[in-house]
Amino acid sequence: MEEKIKIPRGTRDFLPDEMFKRRYVERTIREIFQSFGYKEVQTPTFEHLELFTLKSGEEIIEEIYAFKDKGNRDLALRPELTAPVIRFYVEKMQMEPKPLKLFYIGNCYRYDRPQRGRYREFTQVGCELIGTDTPEAYAELIYLSYTILRNIGLKNIVLRLGNLDIIYSLLENMGVKKNQFRELMHLIDKSKFYELEKKLFEMRVAKSKVKMFREFLNCNSIEKLREFIEAPAVDRFREIIDFLKVFGIDKFEIDMKIVRGLDYYKGIVFEIDAPILGAEKQLCGGGEYELIPLFGGKEVPTAGFAIGFDRAIIALEEEGYVFPEQKLDVYVIPINEKTLKNAIKIVNMLREKNIIADVDLMRRGLAKSLKYASSVKAKKAIIVGPKELEKENVIVRDMDSGKQIEVKMKNLLSMIK
Ligand code: HAM
Repeated sequence: MEEKIKIPRGTRDFLPDEMFKRRYVERTIREIFQSFGYKEVQTPTFEHLELFTLKSGEEIIEEIYAFKDKGNRDLALRPELTAPVIRFYVEKMQMEPKPLKLFYIGNCYRYDRPQRGRYREFTQVGCELIGTDTPEAYAELIYLSYTILRNIGLKNIVLRLGNLDIIYSLLENMGVKKNQFRELMHLIDKSKFYELEKKLFEMRVAKSKVKMFREFLNCNSIEKLREFIEAPAVDRFREIIDFLKVFGIDKFEIDMKIVRGLDYYKGIVFEIDAPILGAEKQLCGGGEYELIPLFGGKEVPTAGFAIGFDRAIIALEEEGYVFPEQKLDVYVIPINEKTLKNAIKIVNMLREKNIIADVDLMRRGLAKSLKYASSVKAKKAIIVGPKELEKENVIVRDMDSGKQIEVKMKNLLSMIK
């Protein structure tokens, strides 16, 4: 026997009920972005490989789905959307008035080890804020990410803020060279603190300074940060936090261990977790970054974030969020073939009035049609019988209670509404 063709590892099919949930949440997210003045953009699913290898970071490069096309070009399925959106900006949007607020919802591909909340094809919703680096701009960005997750209905989320400029300043004070930062950042990102210390020793950093750096990474307040370093970056961090409070967020953690997996970040970085998700709890990640000059554009500040849409849905389910279900307002049932055409006219009239309506297309009996009507969650059934039709009436059945009443055709619409 031939083997059945199965779905590729790390990808998913979505049933109609799941799609309804996803589209519902997506709609809410879109509305929130728009309410903050963001405009939607779309970029291609694949790009030149180089776009992602220039500065995405080792981890992403290892996970990239790369291929050659028939013209021998090196292409890649996008692992994220920041580089594509900035490529788009440099090509076509540099003259747009600033700040430019762009958002997107799109599929991403990473050759990851699949598990719950980690897929090879997944959806990100995110945004890029181009052209401003005031503390209020960054505070609004962080507030937006938090607002999206709260307003889609998540109850338990944790916002953590970090700052790469502060880490870099401190490393510089410790005598670490700029070209050595990257490998240290990767060790912090992976929570490999033993290897981090070893590496710092190898870089000839004194034992006392290494100890100090470890303590610094555990700092959880601005005041404590100041015990380690007095840098303009700390003041800027403070200002962003002050504005975050103005926007209405006063629950967050300071976490200097947030360094992000992608190499383009600098300055403020942040993550939002849903602890209920366990291992794959990171719902959102973002911060300030630099890509425009790398792509040949005129430098302006950039920051953004992306939310793992699939994880947000799982977190909602775990928290017991009650999603709306797709329902029919009305299911129209012709009792026999003689009333079929009348039934079709009725369903047409209802659809024209924006009532969600369907009609039996299988010529089956009343009992079976009623069973189908309840399986598709119809609120009402309209039963079209010959006897009633003679009186210009139909029967309206409430699917919940089973109560039936005979209704004049001309009153049908107002009765359904
Ligand atoms: P990221 O942290 O790599 O950032 O991804 C953002 C979110 O995508 C993660 O927090 C996670 O929820 C979700 N995610 C990542 N990988 C997977 C996966 N394999 N399966 C399911 N969900 C996943 C970025 O991509 C940056 N471009 C964000 C950004 C925008 N920074 C500035 N602007």
